[in-house]
Amino acid sequence: MRVLSGIQPSGALHIGNYLAMMKPMISYMDRSQLFVFIVNLHAMTSVTEGEQLAVGTLEAASDFIALGLDPDRSIFWVQSDVPEVAELTWILTCITPMGLLERCHSYKDKIAKGISPNHGLFAYPVLMAADILLYQANLVPVGKDQKQHIEVTRDIAIKFNGMYGETFTVPEGEINDQVATVPGVDGLKMSKSYGNTIEIFLDEKDLRKRVMSIKTDSTPVDEPKDPETCNLFQIYRHFAPLDRVKEVGRLYIGGGASYGVIKKELVEILWETFRGPRSEKQKLLNDPGHIRSVLADGAKKAREIALPTIEDVRKKVGIKY
Ligand code: ADP
Ligand code: TRP
Repeated sequence: MRVLSGIQPSGALHIGNYLAMMKPMISYMDRSQLFVFIVNLHAMTSVTEGEQLAVGTLEAASDFIALGLDPDRSIFWVQSDVPEVAELTWILTCITPMGLLERCHSYKDKIAKGISPNHGLFAYPVLMAADILLYQANLVPVGKDQKQHIEVTRDIAIKFNGMYGETFTVPEGEINDQVATVPGVDGLKMSKSYGNTIEIFLDEKDLRKRVMSIKTDSTPVDEPKDPETCNLFQIYRHFAPLDRVKEVGRLYIGGGASYGVIKKELVEILWETFRGPRSEKQKLLNDPGHIRSVLADGAKKAREIALPTIEDVRKKVGIKY
């Protein structure tokens, strides 16, 4: 089975990315053929500064490896290093109905937030479809915000297969309800583009500041509180040991949960959770040549897998003559 997912190098990676996508992907390492890539072409829809994109790409790659992705037990590369994905995007664009893209929440949400829409932002789901279909992926683990994009991918695959004969595997999305949407410090979805993240690799002082800034209400310590609607608890429960999560959950319901105490505990837990990866990341960043060569090897493997599919598509649509 081919499991595939990508992440944008559009800012420092955060614990929402880790829980919903990076951690599950890493856990697939020995159970499937794993495809992981840094989607720098997608990030161009929001990052227009070249140096920032280039540095962000190397950094996101180091983060993934530092967190446990082994490039020898997966195929790990940078999206643009397999140029056929841009070619397939154009081909798919020509069979994608406008209405399918006009309905996409992610595009509409970004416009609603005042982000000025470029064509790339509108066409974003088609590039994502090309990413998935080019490698004939079966399963795509993502956060809930990407569910609709997977549906668009399926629609495009079904349409292409109907027009030209069986060509693409129709993929399934995989969304874990437990981590479908991790809240940010303001209670909205944690996202690099909303400035509300808790980054994985902050230094201790900034980590404390970030956690302390998690928005909570003014219910006194002794009063009962609802853990389900509390941002702090919704982050805390993913990292604290299970027994402690249950205990704190009981304090919320029965009274006695102190936001200040829980925040301090969360700082300690996050700091410890990422201690190993932090030092691993430092080592990796000291040797960018090594990361570049790992990524080049990954791109070579990915491209070999992509070539039979793009050749088949070229013949079917008639650009191979
Ligand atoms: P961001 O929104 O921070 O830019 P990406 O678009 O690069 O993140 O998303 C990378 C992966 O992380 C995707 O699978 C996405 O669904 C997931 N993801 C991002 N933010 C969250 C969140 N707050 N909760 C759950 N999953 C998330
Ligand atoms: N759009 C995804 C996101 O923002 C990233 C992405 C690009 C992706 N191509 C993909 C995810 C292919 C899964 C499969 O999170």
